[in-house]
Amino acid sequence: MDKNEIKVFCPATIANISCGFDVLGVALDGVGDEMVVRKIPEKGIKISKLEGQDLPMETHLNVAGVAGMALLEQSGHSGGFEIEIYKKIKAGSGIGSSAASSSGAVWAMNELLGNPFSTLQLVQFAMAGEKLASGVAHADNVAPALFGGFTLVRSYGPLDIIPIHSPAELYATVIHPQIEVKTSDSRKILKTNISLKDGIKQWGNVGGLIAGLFMEDYALIGRSLQDHIVEPIRSILIPGFDAVRSEAQKSGALGGGISGSGPSIFAFSRGKEIADKVANAMEGVYRHIGVAHDVHVSKINTEGVRRL
Ligand code: HSE
Repeated sequence: MDKNEIKVFCPATIANISCGFDVLGVALDGVGDEMVVRKIPEKGIKISKLEGQDLPMETHLNVAGVAGMALLEQSGHSGGFEIEIYKKIKAGSGIGSSAASSSGAVWAMNELLGNPFSTLQLVQFAMAGEKLASGVAHADNVAPALFGGFTLVRSYGPLDIIPIHSPAELYATVIHPQIEVKTSDSRKILKTNISLKDGIKQWGNVGGLIAGLFMEDYALIGRSLQDHIVEPIRSILIPGFDAVRSEAQKSGALGGGISGSGPSIFAFSRGKEIADKVANAMEGVYRHIGVAHDVHVSKINTEGVRRL
């Protein structure tokens, strides 16, 4: 590959992580898309290939195109970029499919331009892709995809992203029942007000989870994985949600919940051996009730988007 072309891995991500709706996320290692991005003399972004999913290739309708244009407009670059997208993450699966494409595009373009932009600026560009995908420019998938590891969006205005320590032995198991839930639809069903009582429980857990991650206190991580606000509403859309989560826990998972806006369900475990057992237990529930599914076991990706 010449210096005008780059191939990248764009990680899947788990957003929300139960208690942190729109603010917490983590990047995965075992699942992700691939992209090839190259400089072209013509101005603008051209999606020249899109394999693996049926998604629009028009620049203004494609999340990588929109995120890429946001960067290009700020860059002063006279030419443009051509993007090939090889989707491995299913759209609407709840593990950051749109974020992988948006983040991969802006990260690769920044590399090819000699890194004029900071990672925080790349998050801002990638958020334009999220806005196209879900109607809301949420950063809880694109921030971990670009920074790697766990991230906290402390504030959206101004954007303030805090990278969070990833415990070395932490593994994620993610099961995807083969139905598609659009983030825009699963946001519409949420209530816009919460009670003080639920707020108190929720921010206790957010603080507990972050402390648990920094202290590598696996038990604290586990007991902080509770969502009193969003999960009770969204879990209704997910087949066998309660059984999958409780079987995961019985097999040794620290805890879990809905991955992003669903329908995928995630569980965290200490060590790969337990994470594999958890995968079997989760699959057992879906085999029993007859739900087609994919399952992934992954360690935490502390790097984010990377060159291949
Ligand atoms: N925080 C977003 C939501 C993530 O739950 O709607 C979408 O992946």
